[in-house]
Amino acid sequence: MSTTHHTTWQLGDRTVNRLGYGAMQLAGPGVFGPPKDPEAARAVLRAAVEGGVDHIDTSDFYGPHITNRLIREALHPYPANLSIVTKIGARRDAGGNWLPAFSKEELTAAVHDNLRNLGLDSLDVVNLRAMFDVHGPAEGSLEAPLAVLAGLREQGLVRHIGLSNVTAAQVQEARRMVPIACVQNQYNLVHRGDDALIDALAAEGIAYVPFFPLGGFSPLQSDTLSAVAARLDTTPMAVAIAWLLQRSPNILVIPGTSSVTHLRQNLAAAALVLPADAVAELDRIAAMS
Ligand SMILES: NC(=O)c1ccc[n+]([C@@H]2O[C@H](COP(=O)([O-])OP(=O)(O)OC[C@H]3O[C@@H](n4cnc5c(N)ncnc54)[C@H](OP(=O)(O)O)[C@@H]3O)[C@@H](O)[C@H]2O)c1
Repeated sequence: MSTTHHTTWQLGDRTVNRLGYGAMQLAGPGVFGPPKDPEAARAVLRAAVEGGVDHIDTSDFYGPHITNRLIREALHPYPANLSIVTKIGARRDAGGNWLPAFSKEELTAAVHDNLRNLGLDSLDVVNLRAMFDVHGPAEGSLEAPLAVLAGLREQGLVRHIGLSNVTAAQVQEARRMVPIACVQNQYNLVHRGDDALIDALAAEGIAYVPFFPLGGFSPLQSDTLSAVAARLDTTPMAVAIAWLLQRSPNILVIPGTSSVTHLRQNLAAAALVLPADAVAELDRIAAMS
């Protein structure tokens, strides 16, 4: 795997750079409430687009409503090539807890909230975030909520539908009902439960967008990762991003950061090519954990 990787992949009806940006870290602590410095958050978004990002992942349940409003304030009117991917299916209570919001009324209101907060007439991609288990995929039919989302798509309020926190069976069920543009589950070089799903989606041309690509709230830590990074004269986070880019051409990476410095480091990782021996070493981390 020492050749350079594909730099773009299909997301709905657009071709996007494989390195995008995840906006969740721009909300306040616990993804609840506003950030300490909203102007710094807007600066990260502007730097992302200036750095070539054409795919931003967000949701109205970040804040709630905070990251979407920051995106609109920083970037509206949006560049024509920018895909903003949002997600629905959850809500926050007054204490910040994450609860399912799967009724027709809740899903419809969520699409309208996203349209208003992002300042759009139509959402590029809406992921249905399954909530049978908030922490990870769990079986359960998505037929009823997907039918609602498909109806909103027919009305022109949503251009493409994706799925998040789902099992392979749920992806199959969904694909029998509507075209699926992308799947967003937890995956990174340590957390590889979706290896088979990623390969199956790649064969169908469907984007796979790992969440927590750098490990999430506690970024990945491993002696092997640090050793590989030191040997290649780069950082562990850059290696984690490069590993995802090399893992499969349908993986779109959306590292989250609240820092312009980290954002620039993450974007620079697109140019990092991991030699085969480094990939083999990194592959052993998941096998051993
Ligand atoms: N569908 C879902 O259920 C779901 C769940 C979680 C997340 N997501 C989406 O996935 C996106 C990515 O996940 P994430 O943001 O939670 O986690 P992540 O990208 O795995 O990691 C973010 C963490 O890494 C740190 N970081 C980023 N770049 C760094 C760098 N160059 N050097 C050192 N530290 C760095 C960030 O801190 P700093 O702010 O200090 O850089 C933050 O603590 C989110 O933004 C969100 O859009 C979706």
